[in-house]
Amino acid sequence: MDQELKKRIRSDRGESLIVSAEEAAYMIKDGMAVAISGFTNSGYPKAVPHALAEQVKAGREEVHIELYSGASVGPEIDTELVETGIIQRRIPYQTNATLRKAINSGKVNYSDMHLGRSAEFVAQGHVKKPDIALVEALAITEDGDLVPTTSVGNVPTYVQMADSVIVEIAMAKPLELEGTADVYMTEPAPNRKPIPITHPGDRVGAPYVKCGWDKIKAIVISDMSDLTRPLAAISEDSRKIGENIINFFRHEVEAGRLGKSLLPIQSGVGSVANAVLWGLKESEFEGLTCYTEVIQDSMLDLIKCGKVTVASCTALAPSPEAQVDFFNNIDFFRDHVIFRPEEISNSGEVAHRLGLIAMNTALEVDIYGNVNSTHVQGKKIMNGIGGSGDFSRSAQLVIFTTSSIAKDGAISSIVPMCPHVDHTEHEVQVIVTEQGYADLRGLSPKERAVAIIENCAHPDYRDMLMDYFKRACEEAPCQTPHILDEALSWHSRFEKTGSMK
Ligand code: COA
Repeated sequence: MDQELKKRIRSDRGESLIVSAEEAAYMIKDGMAVAISGFTNSGYPKAVPHALAEQVKAGREEVHIELYSGASVGPEIDTELVETGIIQRRIPYQTNATLRKAINSGKVNYSDMHLGRSAEFVAQGHVKKPDIALVEALAITEDGDLVPTTSVGNVPTYVQMADSVIVEIAMAKPLELEGTADVYMTEPAPNRKPIPITHPGDRVGAPYVKCGWDKIKAIVISDMSDLTRPLAAISEDSRKIGENIINFFRHEVEAGRLGKSLLPIQSGVGSVANAVLWGLKESEFEGLTCYTEVIQDSMLDLIKCGKVTVASCTALAPSPEAQVDFFNNIDFFRDHVIFRPEEISNSGEVAHRLGLIAMNTALEVDIYGNVNSTHVQGKKIMNGIGGSGDFSRSAQLVIFTTSSIAKDGAISSIVPMCPHVDHTEHEVQVIVTEQGYADLRGLSPKERAVAIIENCAHPDYRDMLMDYFKRACEEAPCQTPHILDEALSWHSRFEKTGSMK
């Protein structure tokens, strides 16, 4: 091994395990369950999945596998292994157009689950036990333990559960990333102890994932980089949603419920989430902390300018430019960023203890505040619930954002009834659109409906919603009035005419 490789593979035991990506791909056999590293296109294995897809394309016997990840991963997996028909079952989250189509057409069985509970789900044996854990690592320690790269995800559990481990050494990522991970594992119930995190910056585990040389069956040296996605420009709607959230925070400070440092922030991904965080940069709030699932460009910027002191997550989800900047300034960021297993980053126990402000995005919201985050028209999966449910059931302040309309106004994102509900009126506290915000805390369903329609609905749909609500109140006076024959008529009208109007 050359000197550079010796810094990455820190025992002579590793040398004989080095194979090509093609040789490692042949270890993946038909019928296997393969559990991989990776979370939002970050820290996923690339060389071996790509080689596997090429082998099947070139006529290797058919290979059908179950594939478990931390969350969404790159196209080498969720495009290439889907197009070649290799993935038959997929958990726990995805954002890929090819995979989404395969799921909705029934070619791939997808179980969409709360990310914070997904490792536990696999460990408890509700899906096939992983035969192979295929994981990206920065380095392998003297004892055969794995140093994570830019995500931890479900790797600790997958490595523990799998019979064999294939490691892709990520030469494209700087060794200086070592020390960013904090790997703490919980015990199975009933012996589980409290997770000892009382501040987002607490480090309570090890900087590596326990594995050991005996499990490692192959090491692939890879110079491939994560195909992280560029961030969409901040839209006018997203900017206004960001502004409305900041105004809501100001109101909370005036009411004495929040201080200048707010509470630790959990923020979803996407352009709205990014815009909210940009809004914080220009605001008076400071000394902020973050306990979240993924951090993206705006969070890195908040850290750089000193507004955020520490950000705890399970993965970095940067644009390509922000990733380069993160690597170039890793000595600075190492003191401010912590990568944890997703059962810890998304732990309900910790979210509750820290009193998080959870901000996630909805596809649509009904007049009573039930939220659909996952199913277009109640039927077609978009991405999945991700961590939104982990946080919304446990955070102190639960905010959902959405533009008030979609598809150029053909869809109202405020509807009489959601045809699929991920987050219920019982936990959803504040709805924010570009029109304004509705603070639903302490309101009855009928009061919630008025607040949502008046403050969040688009003017094109406001009267229609109020008309529905008033007629429902007259026809069916009760706690949560609905006209059942009409409640989903907006969605069926959209299907028939292409518009909810
Ligand atoms: N009905 C139908 N389609 C809708 C819609 C609605 N009510 N609202 C939005 N859409 C469409 C948009 O038109 C867009 O379609 P396109 O891809 O064809 O352009 C797509 O949904 C995405 O919407 P967009 O406005 O770009 O929002 P986004 O990128 O912020 O994504 C969610 C919104 C809800 C899909 C996304 O936040 C998500 O998957 N959330 C669930 C998981 C989660 O919360 N993760 C974070 C937890 S830590």
